Amino acid sequence: MHQRCSNPECAAAFELHDRLTLCPACGDLLEIAVEPPAIAPEELKRIWLQRKCSYEPRDVSGVWRFREFLPNGYSELVTMGEGNSTLVDGRKSAAWAGLRNLRFKHLGWNPTACFKDLGMTTGVTEAVFSRARVVGCASTGNTAASLAAYAARAGLRARVYLPAGHVSENKLAQAIDFGAEVVHVAGGFDAALERILREANGSLYFLNSINPFRLEGQKTAMFEMLEQLGWQPPDYVVVPGGNLGNSSAFGKALAELLAAGFIDRLPRLVVVQAQGANPLARMWRSGNRELQPIDEPETAATAIRIGNPRSWNKALRAVEQTNGLVLDVSEDEIAEAKAVIGREGIGCEPASATTLAALRQLREQGKIDRDAMVVAVLTGHALKDTSFILKSRLGEPAMQGEWRA
Ligand code: F0G
Repeated sequence: MHQRCSNPECAAAFELHDRLTLCPACGDLLEIAVEPPAIAPEELKRIWLQRKCSYEPRDVSGVWRFREFLPNGYSELVTMGEGNSTLVDGRKSAAWAGLRNLRFKHLGWNPTACFKDLGMTTGVTEAVFSRARVVGCASTGNTAASLAAYAARAGLRARVYLPAGHVSENKLAQAIDFGAEVVHVAGGFDAALERILREANGSLYFLNSINPFRLEGQKTAMFEMLEQLGWQPPDYVVVPGGNLGNSSAFGKALAELLAAGFIDRLPRLVVVQAQGANPLARMWRSGNRELQPIDEPETAATAIRIGNPRSWNKALRAVEQTNGLVLDVSEDEIAEAKAVIGREGIGCEPASATTLAALRQLREQGKIDRDAMVVAVLTGHALKDTSFILKSRLGEPAMQGEWRA
């Protein structure tokens, strides 16, 4: 296993634990090159299941349970039993979207209530291994909360750069509760990310999703989902897209599992953005292959209020390799879909609801079959943004009308 430049034209290789932010040769993003494990797929699938009967922290973790595909060499793991999230039926949501077979992979049911924990256990473990004392990130809120928690567990200082006035209070409260130092940056997430990249010197270990160790943990969401489906890939996996690290991680997981013979076909990856923060969706529609950043992205789904996503190239490759799709949804569609998921007793934060909104759109346009087997990835818990719920003007009666029809 080693680090490699993600740009296929460069593909420069580096030692696994070299401390790098970007490729020193060409400046592009790095990735972890993972070779197929020596153990046969059926045997490894059995071993992974067996680990669920163990109380060892590395087995209890729904991330490290899949360690044959993860960076190695660690004597200490920073873990809180992350992963192990439910794949739950969304019957009312399916009916609302016009589908028959919809499940939610709820990554909001993690220690800090968001999928970021899957990548923080690997990212902070690597930070400890490389003897970092201070870890930092720019964030729309969730990465900050998760970073703060895992840093606290590891005894590291955490510094988080947040777009002033555009982070949900619940997420800010988590970061403060877990003891992070908060830097409020004027402008949006993009400005915060530029600022930390400028200010980060050797003493700060950088933990945004351009850190390839984070994506390794995040990719296990696909391992766990496939295990829960008896290793029968669904037709579609739908995921919200902000900085596009998670879509990239999912594409990487699926490619590795196919190459190693764990699955025999790929689900189509559908990436969904909010209309006001949709640079990838715009590029996709235009047929261009160069991303045009959006200067002032705007959406009430503040988690994905991002105009210049850094991992767009990796995410585009993931979508193309899986014959997937990219689309965007309006603010009203997000609010309505979120209310439907809430009224199923599941709940999620606004960014996560883009998935269901997109499915309804795809059904209305006849682009997806009613019987398709679909997994929508819910990235954050309903309690991540309570003011959105309280401010929402969509009333219950309209929603009930939809379900009875
Ligand atoms: N959903 C939620 C709830 C998020 O917090 C994020 C990203 C995404 C989806 C999009 O994931 O960036 O990998 O495409 N939140 C980051 C943060 C940006 O700082 O918490 P992505």
